[in-house]
Amino acid sequence: MKKKILVTGGLGFIGSHTSLKLLENNYEIIVLDNLSNSEIEVRSRISQLAKKDFDFVEGDIRDRNLLNNLFKKNKIDCVIHFAGLKAAGESEKYPLDYYDNNVVGSLVLLQEMKLANIKSIIFSSSASVYGNSPTTKCKEETQLKPISVYGKTKLTIEDILKNLYKSEPEWKIINLRYFNPIGAHFTGIIGEDSRDTPTNLIPFITEVALGKKDQLLVFGDDYNTSDGTGKRDYIHIDDLARGHLFALEKLKQEINICADINLGTGKSHSVFEVIKAFERASGKKIPYKITGRREGDIDEICADPTFASNFINWEAKYDLDKMCSDVWKWKKMNPNGYR
Ligand SMILES: NC(=O)c1ccc[n+]([C@@H]2O[C@H](COP(=O)([O-])OP(=O)(O)OC[C@H]3O[C@@H](n4cnc5c(N)ncnc54)[C@H](O)[C@@H]3O)[C@@H](O)[C@H]2O)c1
Repeated sequence: MKKKILVTGGLGFIGSHTSLKLLENNYEIIVLDNLSNSEIEVRSRISQLAKKDFDFVEGDIRDRNLLNNLFKKNKIDCVIHFAGLKAAGESEKYPLDYYDNNVVGSLVLLQEMKLANIKSIIFSSSASVYGNSPTTKCKEETQLKPISVYGKTKLTIEDILKNLYKSEPEWKIINLRYFNPIGAHFTGIIGEDSRDTPTNLIPFITEVALGKKDQLLVFGDDYNTSDGTGKRDYIHIDDLARGHLFALEKLKQEINICADINLGTGKSHSVFEVIKAFERASGKKIPYKITGRREGDIDEICADPTFASNFINWEAKYDLDKMCSDVWKWKKMNPNGYR
């Protein structure tokens, strides 16, 4: 029988690519999304690519009644939990919103899952739980010291899941710690879209390449890295989505499990390297201006993905050039995102 997965936040950037992968791999899915940072158009794009339809519920993970009814009506095998707010900078301004959406939302979801006897979850955690790590290559057991409110909400949810597992070891839990997902589907039909003015590197670069912005702001060139700009472990969205399939397979095999897994490539790239790669992909010159450091930014962070390779047999396949060329294809086809 087909396994049925509830995908919270499944119309967002990572959720949409993962939902597509699930459909392509014969899972049945129900997507629950409140559309706070996504467009309903994404649903038809996923169906178009998968050549099949799926159930969509517009609603919020904090809505107990909605979850209660959803779990009564459907036999869910596992929840993949993407829904949440994700901007570290914004989280400093609106901490209560971040704790409410991310932590309270996850609590309500877990309580309703428990009531419905659904004890299998893959949670979208983040490299931000490592914070300003003393090592540039983070292993899962590297010290956890998030800096931003956002990172703290992710660590709090991980802790809640670990406490739950300790008291009820029949749960199956995987925390996937994503590094920096970028890229788009190779067709250019789905990709990253944000309602807000982009401040993340890749969305910002694409705005400059499209001529919507004059120049890219590079936040600091005095970091302790080879060229002075910050280095991050960028991972192709397709690799990241595939990681969820491998994690699901693992959950199916195990009777009980609680694990943290880094999903990254193990290579970091500086801002200048990303600019160069994007210029190669787009054939456009990206003018930039060096400006001051952003609060909370760090020199370098990179995954040690050894555990993902050993434990779920997953490795990233795509390099930075492929990430940039897929983003550029998506942006040329959809200069205004899904709108
Ligand atoms: N994109 C990244 O760089 C990154 C890195 C590490 C971790 N993550 C985590 O991965 C998850 C997905 O990230 P993304 O980049 O796809 O973000 P996204 O904003 O594109 O997707 C999140 C989706 O969840 C929905 N949502 C938000 N709050 C909700 C709620 N209370 N109830 C129902 N739906 C809700 C939004 O409408 C959106 O469609 C998030 O939890 C994020 O923190 C993202």
